Amino acid sequence: MGLPQSELRGGGAPLFETIYADPARLKEFLKAMTGVSRGANLAIAAKFPWAQYKTVVDTGPAQGDLLTQVLLKNQHLLGVGFDLPEVGPIFEEYVEAHGLASRLRFQAGSFFTDALPKADVIMMGHILHDGDLEQKRMLIGKAYDALPKGGALLVYDAIIDDDRSKNAFGLMMSLHMMIETYGGFDYTGADCQGWMREAGFKETRLEHLVGPDSMVVGIK
Ligand SMILES: C[S@@+](CC[C@H](N)C(=O)[O-])C[C@H]1O[C@@H](n2cnc3c(N)ncnc32)[C@H](O)[C@@H]1O
Repeated sequence: MGLPQSELRGGGAPLFETIYADPARLKEFLKAMTGVSRGANLAIAAKFPWAQYKTVVDTGPAQGDLLTQVLLKNQHLLGVGFDLPEVGPIFEEYVEAHGLASRLRFQAGSFFTDALPKADVIMMGHILHDGDLEQKRMLIGKAYDALPKGGALLVYDAIIDDDRSKNAFGLMMSLHMMIETYGGFDYTGADCQGWMREAGFKETRLEHLVGPDSMVVGIK
């Protein structure tokens, strides 16, 4: 009871280790994330107040579509994609293809063992739902440490409405994460804003993006 029911059943390696053992499967997964996330990425590029900030890090960017859309629309920004080393060549190929190599670089690392790169804005798309409650809090805490005063943490997922009655996609995604991972689950806007406040963020807000996706913004 309470254990994954995917190929991890019976004590397999965690989700990303399983996917990343096969380079072809890794590239397909990262490309699929671009497809899943494109609508939300365009909304974030357009509606976040980017003019107030100079640098941005995406934590677990996959191919880098969120950073790409944000930097294409905001010419003054510099960006870093922070992800596992295997992702580097696939991220760099995508960035080159969009002509952004002079403003967007890759930094290899693991958010479980390393500090996050410092920036004015730190983003996490489809990251928090992979982890259990302790990992969610740990990641929000690492983002807090990497931000300057006034910096922003931007978290997005298929965030569930607070009374858990409307966002059926978000609820199904949460079930999916419970089946696929050790301890992962989706969460409400109130949950996420509570974790951010506990970490020390002074202001938080929830904003709808597109379809089932919303973002929570925390200001340090
Ligand atoms: C579900 S994908 C989300 C991709 C992208 N943010 C999006 O929303 O489309 C998870 C991402 O986190 C990265 N990731 C997984 N474990 C990581 C770790 N320990 N440190 C850094 N990145 C990690 C994966 O390589 C992948 O790019």
